[in-house]
Amino acid sequence: MSHYTRLADDFDRVWQFSPDYEDWMVEKIASGLSLQPNQTWVDFGAGTGRFTARLHALAPKLQTYCAEPDAAMCQQAAKRDGLRVIRADDQRFVTLMLQYDALLLKEVIHHLSDRQAFWQGIQHQLNADGRLLVVTRPQRSALALFEAAHDVFYRHQPSLTLLVAELEAAGFAVSVSEHTHSFTLSKVDWFAMLRSRFMSDLAAFSDDDIEAGIAELSQYYVGDAIDMADTLLFLQCQKK
Ligand SMILES: C[S@@+](CC[C@H](N)C(=O)[O-])C[C@H]1O[C@@H](n2cnc3c(N)ncnc32)[C@H](O)[C@@H]1O
Repeated sequence: MSHYTRLADDFDRVWQFSPDYEDWMVEKIASGLSLQPNQTWVDFGAGTGRFTARLHALAPKLQTYCAEPDAAMCQQAAKRDGLRVIRADDQRFVTLMLQYDALLLKEVIHHLSDRQAFWQGIQHQLNADGRLLVVTRPQRSALALFEAAHDVFYRHQPSLTLLVAELEAAGFAVSVSEHTHSFTLSKVDWFAMLRSRFMSDLAAFSDDDIEAGIAELSQYYVGDAIDMADTLLFLQCQKK
């Protein structure tokens, strides 16, 4: 069973850093994507459609596609009102006869099988004034991960410099901003998230590896709670 199939029923619960995290994120995406009434847009790699549905409600008469390869995630997304769910990974998606004004790529970049082919494919699908919003993290995440997890994360994540160069080469004008959400979690809750392997970068660690990582963090962070931050990069890309 894939990492995302295993997590699908619980995905929205385990990805919850603080009560105001979702609102904070929706506000940042909404201002980066600037969806207008009657526009068509795609949330690509949308997971359960949690953010898709929130954004769909922000402007009247939006045509909203939720594209996602995992069947269990698609089932969750299909329960939400107003979303058109397409089951597709990056390779299939760019072969579809679709046209849209905007595409959101949130926390998916590390899963794309061929980024250049994807950027070119969506350039063709985007309308003349189309835009892409990439939401991702810097290679060194601000989250309280143990060192081995930081290393895996770093290896899976393209550098910002590389990403901007690729997007510009694919014909986008790119503007980058960075936003940080600070929060405090009890060690009990954070360690439960690590044990649930809420991030795909944790999926390959054995139970023993996770417990060793938690022991490392327990020594580093004194007290019952951990103050940490989630720093995200927002790449606003305008079709030239
Ligand atoms: C970290 S989750 C992010 C989900 C959603 N965008 C969000 O922010 O809540 C990554 C998502 O990418 C999907 N995914 C994995 N491989 C993919 C691929 N090759 N093309 C598109 N999506 C993919 C996963 O199934 C999963 O739903």
